[in-house]
Amino acid sequence: MTTVVVVGSGIAGLTAALHAAENGCRVTVVTKGALHDTNTRWAQGGVAAVTDPADTVASHANDTMTAGAGLNDPAAVDVLVGEGPQRIAEMVARGVAFDRAADGEFARGLEAAHAVARVLHAGGDATGAEIQAALGAAVRSAGIVVREHALLRDLVLRDGRVAGIDLDGGERLDADAVILATGGAGQLYAHTTNPAGATGDGIAAALRAGAAVADLEFVQFHPTALAVGAPFLVSEAVRGEGATLVDDAGRRFCFDAHPDGELAPRDVVARANARAMAAQNGHPVRLDATALGAQRLAARFPTIDAAVRERGLDWAREPIPVTPAAHYLMGGVVTDLDGRTTVPGLYAAGETARTGVHGANRLASNSLLEGAVFGARAGDAVARGGDAGTGRRPAVAPVAEPAPEPAVEPAADAPVFSRAALQQLMWAEAGLVRDASGLDRAAGVLAAWSAEHAPRSIEDANLLLVATHVVAAARARGVSVGAHFRSDAPDAETPASTPLPQEALAC
Ligand code: SIN
Repeated sequence: MTTVVVVGSGIAGLTAALHAAENGCRVTVVTKGALHDTNTRWAQGGVAAVTDPADTVASHANDTMTAGAGLNDPAAVDVLVGEGPQRIAEMVARGVAFDRAADGEFARGLEAAHAVARVLHAGGDATGAEIQAALGAAVRSAGIVVREHALLRDLVLRDGRVAGIDLDGGERLDADAVILATGGAGQLYAHTTNPAGATGDGIAAALRAGAAVADLEFVQFHPTALAVGAPFLVSEAVRGEGATLVDDAGRRFCFDAHPDGELAPRDVVARANARAMAAQNGHPVRLDATALGAQRLAARFPTIDAAVRERGLDWAREPIPVTPAAHYLMGGVVTDLDGRTTVPGLYAAGETARTGVHGANRLASNSLLEGAVFGARAGDAVARGGDAGTGRRPAVAPVAEPAPEPAVEPAADAPVFSRAALQQLMWAEAGLVRDASGLDRAAGVLAAWSAEHAPRSIEDANLLLVATHVVAAARARGVSVGAHFRSDAPDAETPASTPLPQEALAC
């Protein structure tokens, strides 16, 4: 019987675990928090999928490719949108109660850069929490072993293939195959919508094991995190329902950047927000949802409504302050369409993986779908054998990346390392807007920190390693594309005459 360890317990990890177990594998899920303590649980907007006869997979594929600036792998996009409806049906069968309209059909929301309303949601804006609960219950009742509060220290390599994992604390779990589904690395940045656990653990472990990574320069910044109190996402679905973004003068500025205004692709809106903030001395822009009314806001967005009110704001009466924040990593561990990495025995799925499905920028609400579709494929692949326990069949070839820039010398004036210093550095130099001199500075500071022999927590070491690769990738890609915006090489969307000042980003 194939023994599989799945690291991570969000939608990708649990779907992979269920598929592997249902296909006869002995599966253990390892997670560093509680089973439900995941990025998935925080997801508000929903799951994009073609469930309406009036919609088409071609339309969903087109929107996905447009958001990704055409850098997507079309085969991965076809898999995502083509298998999406099947995974939705499977989630429903596992107990996910997507919201329904009066006629019993799925209620479908509109989000930015979608041609039609195709985003399914649950509990209004508690989609991730609903999915997490249902999949967690399914994993428990399938008899899958769950190891909570168990932090991955490293992958175990034996004869050139992954043969298990070591946990913090010294315990070793042997496995024929390991599936990494640890999510992204939002904690690289001073402002993020991600929970504290998003420290790039799987990507860092894969790097140490010699796996190829790609597209790490493509970090998505969400346009609207609450700018008051602890970071909190205000879903794009709020704009999908008609909320607008206004500056201090009450002017809707998003149309300056794109004809779709507030529903333009996410990177366009995020930069429009940052630009408007710069023009008002860093003061947050405002999301005006007053037209929706108190009743509709509370019913459709109960989670956001509570968070807004906890902060002493009444969004039914006045616009609320919002700011961009790091949200999602399009790059990651290179995989084929079945989750195989370049290291035999090692698989990755969800935000940890780079399938090429998102290109340079992810379409709204394609992330839960990605976790379900590619998690299922990874679980099925380990069960089929693939390379698990059967030798050395290497998987996917590394993706062609821009030629790396020459390495920089470690900075002599690097500040003392701390998590906060790393996050500030990344926000200032490798955030929404980048340029050669800022990226070179970041590379120098990261090199200095990496050369130190200082004791660091596993998570801090992981963040430092992933940051180094994000900055290297951003230095190498000397053009602006999708979420990777270089002020020294502006694209057509932001003319050279209106560069984004760095001060805009220091909120
Ligand atoms: C949101 O609800 O705005 C986030 C959904 C996503 O990241 O796709």
